[in-house]
Amino acid sequence: MNPMQENELEYIREINWQLLRSRKEEKLRQRSRVIWMCGLSGAGKSTLAFETERKLFERGYIAQVLDGDWLRSGLNADLGYSEADREENLRRVAELSKLFLSGGIISINAFISPTNKTRALARQIIGSNDFIEVYINAPLEVCEKRDTKGLYEKARLGLIKDFTGINAPFESPAEPDIEIRTDELGIGESTEALLKYILPHISYK
Ligand code: ADX
Repeated sequence: MNPMQENELEYIREINWQLLRSRKEEKLRQRSRVIWMCGLSGAGKSTLAFETERKLFERGYIAQVLDGDWLRSGLNADLGYSEADREENLRRVAELSKLFLSGGIISINAFISPTNKTRALARQIIGSNDFIEVYINAPLEVCEKRDTKGLYEKARLGLIKDFTGINAPFESPAEPDIEIRTDELGIGESTEALLKYILPHISYK
């Protein structure tokens, strides 16, 4: 392929990307966005993600949850919890979400995404305009007390290394678009608060 053709293909690809996305959004009567939830294990990210997907569906919106535990059992099964592996995990998730965006689908991502660096990388891949950062916040003590998967206990016993909040870092996002305190709000209230924020961004006018 000569350089001219290469440029043309790049151009056509870009046009299609934009055109198809907006036509798909028009057809679905929604604006696609990536709703990126970060927070400690046990903070309630997955619960809220699935509740939000369901509530959106009831209102006529098509969204897709991408969830840490789930992706790590398939697409990202080769990755662990070192800094580099988490970065690769989230890079792939960001690329995947970008495809959902171009398909007009709202992507609801539930990943610890523990550092500013990993969240900045995700934002950069997806693009700031389409990226909604949600901090699902419950204090470590609360998450540890809930210990829904028994992982905090194992981490305290030294059976799991690099466990976020215990022996691996979690940096609270400085300026999330919205913060949900799941130690103060129930599931219903948390979902409603989130929906209230999201709906103006995804509604098709
Ligand atoms: S991330 O840091 O790369 O964003 P991700 O959200 O995909 O993490 O996966 C977190 C889930 O993996 C947790 O909810 C928990 O069930 C499981 N897990 C297993 N080992 C660890 C660990 N060392 N640190 C954090 N989570 C772990």
